[in-house]
Amino acid sequence: MKTLFEPFKIKMVEPIKMTTREERKQILKKAAFNLFLVHSEDVLIDLLTDSGTGAMSAEQWAGMMRGDEAYACSRSFYRFLDTVKSIFGFKHVIPTHQGRAAERILFSIMCEKGDVVPNNTHFDTTRANIEFHGAEAVDLPVSEALHPATLHPFKGNLDAVGLRQLIRKIGPEHIPLAMITVTNNSGGGQPVSMANIREVKEILKPHHIPLYLDACRFAENAYFIKLREEGYANKSVKEIAQEMFSYAEGCTMSAKKDGLSNIGGFLCTNDDKLAERERNLLILTEGFPTYGGLAARDLEAIAIGLEEVLHEDYLQYRIGSVKYLGEKIAQAGVPIVQPPGGHAIYIDARAMLPHIRPLEYPGQALVAELYLEAGIRSVEIGSVMFARKDPKTGKEIPAPMELVRLAIPRRVYTQSHIDYVVEAIMQVYQRRERIRGMKIAYEAPFLRHFTAKFERAESR
Ligand SMILES: Cc1ncc(COP(=O)(O)O)c(C=O)c1O
Repeated sequence: MKTLFEPFKIKMVEPIKMTTREERKQILKKAAFNLFLVHSEDVLIDLLTDSGTGAMSAEQWAGMMRGDEAYACSRSFYRFLDTVKSIFGFKHVIPTHQGRAAERILFSIMCEKGDVVPNNTHFDTTRANIEFHGAEAVDLPVSEALHPATLHPFKGNLDAVGLRQLIRKIGPEHIPLAMITVTNNSGGGQPVSMANIREVKEILKPHHIPLYLDACRFAENAYFIKLREEGYANKSVKEIAQEMFSYAEGCTMSAKKDGLSNIGGFLCTNDDKLAERERNLLILTEGFPTYGGLAARDLEAIAIGLEEVLHEDYLQYRIGSVKYLGEKIAQAGVPIVQPPGGHAIYIDARAMLPHIRPLEYPGQALVAELYLEAGIRSVEIGSVMFARKDPKTGKEIPAPMELVRLAIPRRVYTQSHIDYVVEAIMQVYQRRERIRGMKIAYEAPFLRHFTAKFERAESR
């Protein structure tokens, strides 16, 4: 059968409030063209993020009711612990309220001023948490990752040559850990191959630099390995995930993605001493080590979600529906990061709107148009999010790519919702030459994209 089949039935529905184009124009103006500031009830299709926006299963809701809310050593914690250990395999599992809390604890213990942390591509909170502790976050994507139209099965890979050079240049003593983000969210949601994880591990081993995985989308990554990497077709997704983690000393995890939960995260390590320090810090800021800032019912939902996310029927539908959206718009001529990634489609706004200069934020301009056209909320992953300041001149240096991410929440939208998104993108694409750039009227000192205020740039 060619028809995409959602392997679930809908038990509960949430109405979507319809809006007119005129209403959306006013809403956009009020939010200063920043879609983070638009109320969700004014959004028709919310593709801002796949983080914490998924629908839970009947089994997860039942698990929520079973949550044992004891302050210490609750039954729910041990269920969570057993599940995480069976998939991730690490010795210590520290629950946190979400992924960035795990990052903050990890980097505040491991990083000092002058240190460098390499990654295929740091996610924004990862980068910000490293920089907050005075260290430098270095992105080492493979060169294919910087060419949106280039086809490559594992564009999320970390550049092994670049990693060797970095170690030689700054010395292993200044690299407290290296990371690989699976799948590579900021690099287009592209997967990382097992061969690459293995190679990175081999490079780090003689220098005693620990490897950590940013594991948010580990199941999607494992499924891509099954589909695309030789020798993995007959392995289960769980076995593939276990092998991925076997090369790492620890991981950070946001359960809001492949934990199929609305909140939660965790930090894992095999290092006893480090775990002790991490737990102490956890108690100070998150909570007792058996709940880490979460309600026990959330730990239940995560434990069940981590099992459900490994079902191949689910992953086939998940990866298939993202691919469907990507292929439909690409066929119409819309430039996207190829091939379609695991959780999102990334439109190449620089290629689609070549008349808008990078520092007039073509991605942000496209985000605004998609909302105006059809009430779709997407997010810019380009110079608004990742431009850097030149330390000498103070001038902004554009990000390497100007992308617009359409992240698909898990188990939320149906095929007809996706068809609506396709139609809207095609309409915006047809009038692309008339779209104007943006300028920033207000920005915060870090993570500016969340609160920035924009105005339309003068037309040129
Ligand atoms: C790759 C990656 N790492 C870390 C995070 C941070 O996780 P959280 O939002 O749970 O803090 C995210 C969130 O989107 C992510 O995509």
